[in-house]
Order: sequence, then C-alpha cells, then structure tokens
Amino acid sequence: MARYTVVTMPGDGIGNQVLPEALRLLKAVGFDAEYIHAAIGWECWRNEGNALPERTVELLAKHQLGLFGAITSKPKKEAEAELKPELKGKGYSYFSPIVTMRQRFHLDTCIRPCISFPGNPLNFIRKKSGGGFEEPIVNVVIFRQNTEGLYAGVEWTNPPEAVRAALATHPKFKPFAATPGPDLAISVRIITRAAARKICQAAFEWARKYGYKSVTICEKPNVLRETSGMMEDEAKAVAKQYPAIALWSTNIDAQTMWLTKNPEDYAVVVASNLFGDVISDAFAGLVGGLGFAASGNIGDEVAVFEPTHGSAPKYAELDPPIVNPIAMFLSAVMLLEHVGETEKAGRIRDAIAAVVKEGKVRTYDMMRITGGAKAISQGAASTVQMTDAVLAKVEAVEDVPCAVSGRESA
Ligand code: NAI
Ligand code: MG
Repeated sequence: MARYTVVTMPGDGIGNQVLPEALRLLKAVGFDAEYIHAAIGWECWRNEGNALPERTVELLAKHQLGLFGAITSKPKKEAEAELKPELKGKGYSYFSPIVTMRQRFHLDTCIRPCISFPGNPLNFIRKKSGGGFEEPIVNVVIFRQNTEGLYAGVEWTNPPEAVRAALATHPKFKPFAATPGPDLAISVRIITRAAARKICQAAFEWARKYGYKSVTICEKPNVLRETSGMMEDEAKAVAKQYPAIALWSTNIDAQTMWLTKNPEDYAVVVASNLFGDVISDAFAGLVGGLGFAASGNIGDEVAVFEPTHGSAPKYAELDPPIVNPIAMFLSAVMLLEHVGETEKAGRIRDAIAAVVKEGKVRTYDMMRITGGAKAISQGAASTVQMTDAVLAKVEAVEDVPCAVSGRESA
C-alpha cells in the first residue's frame, strides 16, 4: 500500500492538461502515493446539478489530501441554461465547487507563495534612476483567510424585511432606507475573532519557520473599523508571541501601489478573504503571473493544493496543449512540503528553477507572445515539453544526489 493517497481533481479545461503533468513529476521524485481520480466542475453541474458531487466530498473527507486543477464557473443564468434538460427547473442552483469545498472542509488558511525564479522573463523589473534596470527578487508569502469576510456568501438582492429592519437600526443605513428591495444588493463582510486570530497565527508561524523578518497585516482599518479593525487587533495580539518578527500594517489600496514600487520589502502578508485574493494576484503578477501562481487551501484535517489560474477555456482544446504547467507543479511542491516530503519538494522546485534559469524551454506566456495554436511554431514549448524539461532536471539531480542542495534560495 502506498504511504499517501491523493485525491486528484483535474476539473475542467486546462486543469485536465496540467494536473497529469504534475503527477509525472511526483512519480519521478518517488513520492509514494496512490492517486484517486475525483470528479468536479462543469460536467458534474450539467449532468448532476452539483459541481462538487457528494462522492468527491467523501473521497476528500476520507483521504484528506487533494490536488486540484481548475474549474469553469459561469453566471447563474448561463449555468441554469446549460443544465441537462431533465434537471432544468428543478431548483438546482450553481455554486462554485471551490468555494463550497473551502467552506465544507473549513479550509480556512490559504497560502499563496509569490517567489521569483531568477531568469524568468516575466519577473518584475524596475528602472534605475541612473539608467538601466534592476530585478529585485520577490519573496512574499500571502496568508489569506479563506472562509469568511466578503466571500462568506451571506448576501441578498432584495433582502428580507427582517434584514432591512435590522439594518435600519444602524444610523449609517439611513441614506439607503428608501431604496426599493429589488434595487438593493447587500454582501455581508463577516470576520470572527477566532478566524482572524488563526490566520494571523499561521502567518507568524510561517515567518518563524522559514526565517521571514516581517509580517504585514494588509487591511483597511481606518474605514472598515469593525472588520479590518478586528483583523488588525488580532495581528497585534499574535505579534506579541513573536518578538523577533516585525509586524507592519498597510492599507490594501496603498499596498497595491507599494508592491510595484518596492516588492522586495515585503515578506509574509496576511489579509482577510477578498483583500487576500486581490493582493495575492497582484504579487503573483510580479513573479510570472498565472503560469507561476500556486496555492494551498489548508484546514485542520483536509488540505487541497491548486494553481491559482482557472480553466482557460480558450486554450483547453489545443493539441498539443500550450499552457504553462509550472503553477500546477508548484502546487504539487506545496503538497509535498505540507506532508513533510521536503527533499522531494526541493528537487522539483530546483528542477523548475534550473529550467527557468536556463531559458531554453519556455511556454508561450514566458515568451510574452499571444497564446494559441501558432505559439508552438513561434518557438514556444508545449505543456508536455515543459514537463519533459523539468523531468530531465529532476532525473539529472537523482543521478548526482549531492547536487540536491544547489538551491538558489538555500
Ligand atoms: P483563467 O485563469 O482560466 O485564464 C485567464 C488567462 O490567463 C488565460 O486565457 C490565459 O491567457 C492565461 N492563463 C491561465 N492559466 C495559464 C497557464 N497555466 N499558462 C499560461 N497562461 C495561462 O481565467 P478566466 O479566463 O478569467 O476564467 C476562465 C474560467 O476559469 C472561468 O469559468 C472562471 O470562472 C474559471 N476560474 C476558475 C478558477 C479556479 O478553478 N480556481 C480560478 C479562476 C477562474
Ligand atoms: Mg483570484
């Protein structure tokens, strides 16, 4: 029997192209795992009226470790129109399976590392005052609260009378009180102290474990006094346990400006759900964008790792596939680290770093050319060629075990 069981959920579109490539790497480093395929995404919605079928939930509950590709989501009306005829009008509503998964398994900690690989042509560069450019190394890890905040899903258009009545007790609701129900949309930003404490604790713990010098709480407490205020209060309380790590506080708006001015100043960044989503995409853009952005959704029992990108339907039918599998590889690396297989994780990361640095094999996004069928004839590597290149480096390392520690970041 294998030591680990991983529930693999390729999902939709390019999820089906990149996830199998990541498994090739996991096998190459000798990760002792069995993989169980589980259905998720658009076909499940169309055929079953549920994008996250109960059988997939059961597999995740049992095995507790998941690797996920991407799903396709569509707005409510379009989703209903695509249900198979027998299910139409039966009261099925579309919910994002990822958001549902996060809530169902309480995957409350989302970790998104944004760390540049030297030699990546997509890395952030800065003009120097005396002419020329410099390329600061970005090494930021975002901790995003994954289950609460504005994504908690407590929202209405035309809120029920009881909700309106409750809101009317707040003096600041006055300007909205006369708005007709159908013209009034409300999404509630819910922060609980326990969850705020937990995400801040996770951020500081990561900083301690990996030697980061600061944790930045990125909120907006001057305006969102209650919710961002609570996040900031908890960050301050947690910071007391970590005197060697500085706590910085930034506002989300200012932070998005500063991260393009001096991204190298930041280390671990912690934020509530929406702000964490925004800031992690913004930092990801400095280190290669969607082709390089990976994340882990971690709960007390279950953990699921996924690239940040979606199903990229416009490229899903291309043969050969052209999308960059590195974000998926880095998700697999995070999975390995999560279960303590750090040597294997390091070997894959080193192999990716070597391929990026060498610069001979680049997918279309890394060449800054338009994606599409022509990309290959313009010299872009296919998804499989990129995997082959990384595999070749992994195998080279295997032949010379002492080279394992040749890690840029070490
Ligand atoms: P997307 O991430 O699927 O693609 C946006 C664009 O980014 C692509 O057209 C492509 O140019 C580029 N891109 C994405 N992944 C890439 C890769 N691995 N290599 C190179 N280039 C890559 O986002 P989009 O187009 O907004 O959404 C498409 C579908 O995916 C929608 O149905 C959306 O709801 C869903 N989605 C799912 C997510 C998930 O599964 N976690 C996250 C984001 C979107
Ligand atoms: Mg996002």
